[in-house]
Amino acid sequence: MSVLALSAETFAVVLVAALFGLFVLLLGAAFLRARRAAPAPAAPGRPAAPPPPGPKPKVVLSRRDFFRAGLLTSLGVFTAQFGGASLAFLWPKLKGFGSIITVPDTLETIQATIRETKQPYYFGAGRFYLVPYDGDGDRPGGPYEGLTAAGLLAKYQKCAHLGCRVPFCEQSQWFECPCHGSKYNRAGEWMLGPAPTGLHTFKVIVEGNTVRVDTSKVITGPPRGTDTIHQAPEGPFCVGGAA
Ligand code: FES
Repeated sequence: MSVLALSAETFAVVLVAALFGLFVLLLGAAFLRARRAAPAPAAPGRPAAPPPPGPKPKVVLSRRDFFRAGLLTSLGVFTAQFGGASLAFLWPKLKGFGSIITVPDTLETIQATIRETKQPYYFGAGRFYLVPYDGDGDRPGGPYEGLTAAGLLAKYQKCAHLGCRVPFCEQSQWFECPCHGSKYNRAGEWMLGPAPTGLHTFKVIVEGNTVRVDTSKVITGPPRGTDTIHQAPEGPFCVGGAA
């Protein structure tokens, strides 16, 4: 089992946070320097000495201070603009695919839907199917160890061959890719066609009646030859002829 690298969205958020942290550090350092340069306050109990009479002294900004202020201002504006734009762009994705998604239906509803329709529960916004799983692949050392919960396994909708969306065939009770004919059993394990592995997997988390799926980590599908449910096709194929 392998976990793919950080998603682009997560990387961008980390980058924004790092830039913002740098800006705050520079701002804090400039503030401290300014405080050190300020005149010391009068001793307690003694009135502060009155300012010396005469013309008001001119405030002269050194070239170094001028460049420092300019740099800090530019950095602040850049960070604010970049961070704001990135967050505005990513916000829908942070709550959708690429994050931990809470399925709107309850566990009971999901299980009832699977039973009544005799099909996996499909959640398009999360790009995954929840399939009922009663094999032994989630035991220690199995391909789904730590990934199932309440008898549910989450499979990525994307074909492991070239990425087409793979629908579920009600007749055969297998997943069948319309692009080049790869076929996977109900648990998304490779059975036929050019796909190099089974359908990729996500971790399912169940808390009470709430189901969450962690789509931030795409876990590579089990290799060819993995067959933990021993399910023959249950009817004619939808793609590529009869079973
Ligand atoms: Fe599915 Fe090629 S993309 S078989």
